[in-house]
Amino acid sequence: MNIESISKNLSWLPKPVTRFLEKRMKNVPAVKQMVEKENDKLQASLEHSLKPYRGKFESFAALPQMGIDREKILADIQKMHDQEIGTWEKGYVSGGIYNGDKDHIDFLNKAYALNSQSNPLHSDIFPSATKFEAEIVSMVAGMMGQGKTSDGAQIVGCVSSGGTESILLAMKTYRDRAREEKGITAPEMILCDSAHTAFDKASHYFGIKQIRIPMKDDFSIDVEAAKRAINRNTIVIVGSAPTFPHGIIDDIEALSNLALQHNIGFHTDSCLGGFLIPFAEKLGYKVPVIDFRLPGVTSMSVDTHKYGYAAKGTSVVLYRSAELRHYQYYTTTEWPGGLYFSPTIAGSRPGALSAACWAAMLSIGEEGYLRATKSILETADYVRKGIQSIPELEILGNPLWIFAIRSKVDTLNIYEVLDQMAAKHWSLNGLHKPSCFHIALTLRHTQPGVADRFINDLKESVAYVKANPGNKEGLAPVYGLAATLPFRGMVSDILKKYLDVVYTV
Ligand SMILES: Cc1ncc(COP(=O)(O)O)c(C=O)c1O
Repeated sequence: MNIESISKNLSWLPKPVTRFLEKRMKNVPAVKQMVEKENDKLQASLEHSLKPYRGKFESFAALPQMGIDREKILADIQKMHDQEIGTWEKGYVSGGIYNGDKDHIDFLNKAYALNSQSNPLHSDIFPSATKFEAEIVSMVAGMMGQGKTSDGAQIVGCVSSGGTESILLAMKTYRDRAREEKGITAPEMILCDSAHTAFDKASHYFGIKQIRIPMKDDFSIDVEAAKRAINRNTIVIVGSAPTFPHGIIDDIEALSNLALQHNIGFHTDSCLGGFLIPFAEKLGYKVPVIDFRLPGVTSMSVDTHKYGYAAKGTSVVLYRSAELRHYQYYTTTEWPGGLYFSPTIAGSRPGALSAACWAAMLSIGEEGYLRATKSILETADYVRKGIQSIPELEILGNPLWIFAIRSKVDTLNIYEVLDQMAAKHWSLNGLHKPSCFHIALTLRHTQPGVADRFINDLKESVAYVKANPGNKEGLAPVYGLAATLPFRGMVSDILKKYLDVVYTV
């Protein structure tokens, strides 16, 4: 008996029963031993992939007694960089590196270097940082409905550290507003199963109950089910434009109208699409309106560090009104450290990242974003046709540039195909519920030959797995287990072990 076979035998049980069983079984010595064995196996394979520099570079578990020569430090950093750049530079990575052009990166690095000491918390010392951030917000607001809401008000916002923080901030804002204005103490948010897990985090951090709505057959949210889920405690409805897993744009108009009718917030999560969809619309692509032109949209998250082509570490959260944004801010008036106020979660923040983001947006301009969008969407058409030419595979739903791919035939394990792609250097995202993997196309994939290489490698991988099914190596068994194991606490424990490995020297 192993975990896999236990899982198969118990997968029909209702969730509360498996949770109860899991609690009981966790302390049974035989089960404990079995879980430890699985963990040891995983740990060994993780250490191999997460710690490739062990033995190749000196490790520092403690501060060196004497400072090390700067040239040597930079040489080591350069060597590690050189080993890592190949995968993403040649376009083998899904998402991740959205621009990657050398001249663009050199330019961002210069803007960063000039501002490496800058901190927007000290706006008196670094007024340039406040200029950069105000203008980033204004430029992004300008993309989302000409900077004005449907009723002519000014769209406002803040720069955050990434999509997750933008989402956390927006959800905290709705929680605080609902508490203050409606006395809601048990807040709930309504969102699709496919909405980003940053909303899970917000739920966990801020005590907001999540009502997850199933996807329809087209992988967008079931709006009727969302409507039925609204109650007195609902503070916000969320729609994705598009979703991370399958690249599908939810019915933002219908959802935001629902929110408007019930006088609750509506958040468009356009972390992934905010810098593509507005430009796709201008290029004449048939894309839905997702922004403040819709009267029910009250906030949005738009990531500058994805298709905005900034360096990693910036995103924008936008609000329909300054009053709403006030619920996001934090102020302290009684602290001996003085009057304190900060707009986002962090205290001190890297002004250099805002400078680099501002520089990226100015240097690319509307014309550059239009060109980039056109190039990605044209590559996407080509890749879509390539995937559709493989009879054993299918794309989930009808996405624009993010393709989740699953197996059409029982005999082909999609995770084994993913492993084969990994063996050919591809770094794609394994997904589950349903079992599939995805590629988010970026400017890296628009380089000559990359799309063809992807399609050919995919064809070869499918052919290989058909001829050699049942590979027990690689990640396929892990994905298989994670997808079917009814004991989600055990899966969670495994993920925590992964993080423990990350932080071992
Ligand atoms: C739709 C969506 N929302 C939110 C996020 C979270 O963004 P980040 O990883 O920058 O925190 C992502 C990340 O891919 C995303 O795709």
